[in-house]
Amino acid sequence: MILMINCAHGYEPRANYMLNCMGCHVEDGSGASGKVPSLRNTLVPFALSPPGRRYLVQVPGTSQSMLSDTEIAELLNWMMRSLSDLSLPPGTKDFTAAEVTSYRSERLKDPAATRAHLLSTALTTQQ
Ligand code: HEC
Repeated sequence: MILMINCAHGYEPRANYMLNCMGCHVEDGSGASGKVPSLRNTLVPFALSPPGRRYLVQVPGTSQSMLSDTEIAELLNWMMRSLSDLSLPPGTKDFTAAEVTSYRSERLKDPAATRAHLLSTALTTQQ
């Protein structure tokens, strides 16, 4: 019985990362210079604002994956703790399936421009 429940739930976040994301983002999230940006300094600042959270879900690698909204929520929660040089401030909200659903269906028109904008506002608010 327990085995069936585990199967229905699919893979753990780490396994989902390895199967769906690691090919581009590499094992520790540091990416490939000039092609795939490092996640290691962006996941935490982006997770702290609603537009940043929206981007983390809507970026094509996340939103167009084969994973369910629940799996994406668990994956992002794992990634922001396990692939980040910055630690998550206490009290940071975890992603829920409902939050992923609310952002996922909307297409992100220009990921690179959105990222650049978020980075500039994240830097300003830190100073
Ligand atoms: C085909 C390569 C590729 C795959 C596979 C991929 N990504 Fe990405 N990812 C990118 C690129 C390139 C970017 C930069 C934004 C853009 O141009 O889409 C990015 C950006 C991101 C970002 C935003 C972080 C930042 O600093 O901008 C997140 C979060 C992310 N990906 C999550 C995932 C997740 C989760 C998966 C697996 C379910 C995944 N990606 C699979 C290439 C990929």
